[in-house]
Amino acid sequence: MNERAIDERMALELDSLRAQSQFRTLEMPGGVNLYSNDYLELSTDPRLKHAVLEAVARAASVGSTGSRLLSGNSREWEEVESDFAQFAGTEAALYFGSGYAANIGLLASILKPGDVVFSDAQNHASLIDGMRLSGATKIVYPHRDLQFLENALREHGRGAGAMVIVTESVFSMEGDVAPVEDLLRIARNYGAGLVLDEAHAIGVCGPQGRGVAAELGVERELLAIVHTCGKALASAGAFVCGSRTLRDYLVNRARTFIFSTAMPPYMAGQIQAAVGLAREASDRRDHLRQIAASLREELAARRFNVGTSTTHIVPVLLGTNELALHAASELQQAGFAVKAIRPPTVPVGTARLRLSLTSRISLEEIHRLVTVMDAACKSSPQVPSTSAVHA
Ligand SMILES: Cc1ncc(COP(=O)(O)O)c(C=O)c1O
Repeated sequence: MNERAIDERMALELDSLRAQSQFRTLEMPGGVNLYSNDYLELSTDPRLKHAVLEAVARAASVGSTGSRLLSGNSREWEEVESDFAQFAGTEAALYFGSGYAANIGLLASILKPGDVVFSDAQNHASLIDGMRLSGATKIVYPHRDLQFLENALREHGRGAGAMVIVTESVFSMEGDVAPVEDLLRIARNYGAGLVLDEAHAIGVCGPQGRGVAAELGVERELLAIVHTCGKALASAGAFVCGSRTLRDYLVNRARTFIFSTAMPPYMAGQIQAAVGLAREASDRRDHLRQIAASLREELAARRFNVGTSTTHIVPVLLGTNELALHAASELQQAGFAVKAIRPPTVPVGTARLRLSLTSRISLEEIHRLVTVMDAACKSSPQVPSTSAVHA
């Protein structure tokens, strides 16, 4: 196949995405932002900006100059890892340049062909790709379905390989929470390890925003916890937290750690400051819980389907791509930055708006949002079947 043929193939694929209302473009949010992960509004916090300036001024260099295994290691990274491990409640932590790299590096190295990995159906792409790369046998269990999971573990428990369960704590698309205590009990019963991705929980859930595992006091019982820094912590990268053995293993085996340039040392200063601010942000966490509860209640009162959400992430399941796009466009015109989420990101027939709240949003804005949403869905030229919209 020549270069022109590849061009034509790409153009055809894009046409097909357009025909299915699945073509994506890069946009700049305007208005009340409802698709940001800046849950504690730290990204614009003057205290964090100031801390970054100070970290830059303090750092001997603004580039890391190499992989951590070569010239890229620094006192800043060693310190932030040790402090973050304390915050996360684990023995050790290792920093990766993104959550995506952390999940791939972790799963592709600790899992081997012959192992069996059990994955919640709603897990993030980075977890899925890590499992795929590992060569382990992957069993996908229906979202939060403990019975299915237990049966699958019973069935596969006789093999010689290791077994690992992989789940998010707060799910990024559904806004619900994994039954971590039950998962741990099942994992223990079958001799399996549990890996928990806390990307959407860090900063928001648990004591001082330390996550769901910390809320349950089970941090040391997990095989690994992944805490990303690009969401509520308004920074970048992610920590894989666990035992010292796990940290040593990843330093030696995780390819996304080994073969990647370290992040600049000042980023460690930004993360340190963000963790400090997040610890103290209990007012913002309380406000977030309050507006999320109001949003869910008001939407449910108007018979919208918010699925199983119990957190600051509230999906509104609308069914068709067309209705989701129409509702998003009406909300955008009314000053709300909202995005329609469509298959393949979510299962076919569950196109939705994903409302991701930040502590900056007021109760008044929540009331107005629900009113506009209601009007948008009633005015849709493509009024959905009752079952698509209503709970
Ligand atoms: C659950 C989950 N894990 C991992 C990631 C990846 O993190 P990062 O954006 O830092 O690459 C995301 C990002 O959206 C996520 O939602």
